[in-house]
Amino acid sequence: MQLCQTNAELALALSAAREEGRRIGFVPTMGALHEGHLSLIRQSKADGHFTIVSVFVNPLQFGDGEDFESYPRTLGVDARLVTDTGGDVLYAPTPQAVFPEGAGLPEPDPGELGDSYEGAARPGHFAGVLKVVSRLLDLVSPDAIYLGQKDAQQVALIRRMVAEQLESGMRQPVSVVVMPTIRDDSGLAMSSRNRRLSEAELEIARTIYPALVSAAASGKDASAICELAKAALSPEARLDYLEVVDEQFEKVQGKPPAGSRLIVAANVGSVRLIDNVLIGGE
Ligand code: PAF
Repeated sequence: MQLCQTNAELALALSAAREEGRRIGFVPTMGALHEGHLSLIRQSKADGHFTIVSVFVNPLQFGDGEDFESYPRTLGVDARLVTDTGGDVLYAPTPQAVFPEGAGLPEPDPGELGDSYEGAARPGHFAGVLKVVSRLLDLVSPDAIYLGQKDAQQVALIRRMVAEQLESGMRQPVSVVVMPTIRDDSGLAMSSRNRRLSEAELEIARTIYPALVSAAASGKDASAICELAKAALSPEARLDYLEVVDEQFEKVQGKPPAGSRLIVAANVGSVRLIDNVLIGGE
């Protein structure tokens, strides 16, 4: 595994791989890697790709008062995990390498979807996500990008951005590969932020997934599904939103169409947790 901390090192590693005829798989992360990230690396390897994993805590996607400063930074451990999982390159750039001053980088517009759900709670978050993903895609030029289903709204926005950039001619085709959410034994979705939960808070957090699953399997209308899920959640999980949305992330009224998801965000202690399940089961 090669550690690249500059864009020049990354470019060299990429051109060597391309010369060997390799296709490139890209796993963007903010580090503090867990099984969820590792499943993306494994899939990229299983697809035969020369696999680049980026670790970059993107300041643009954190709002005022969010946890940018305290976000876990564990590059040494991450490097070992990427090596053990078979990743080929760990790209860990400085902010200056990603966002050089005066570079006039594209600022993809998340549109209305960027202001709802996660975007409503975290103004500017998705503009920051799309800007960094667009930039990383320019630097890596992958054949496929691997994302986790846990961040369903992020997936929907990145998919749309990639399609728009392809259509406008600014990008070569990139497959967006979305992998299932990886969960601990209790069903709690893996997240770098889980490590901040106390034992008592973990117990509360662990009510989220079973509540979603049983409500999503009920066969009921959207509003009844939400009521069922709310009733099954620990009252100590402070709900931000709980909604049924369709594949375009439009709120569903009545019977959910195929591909709809039950999405949730809840605060447990000081940790904001998100999750989602497919209506009718994965
Ligand atoms: O999902 C994440 O970890 C981040 O939003 C991403 C896609 C790496 C962009 O910073």
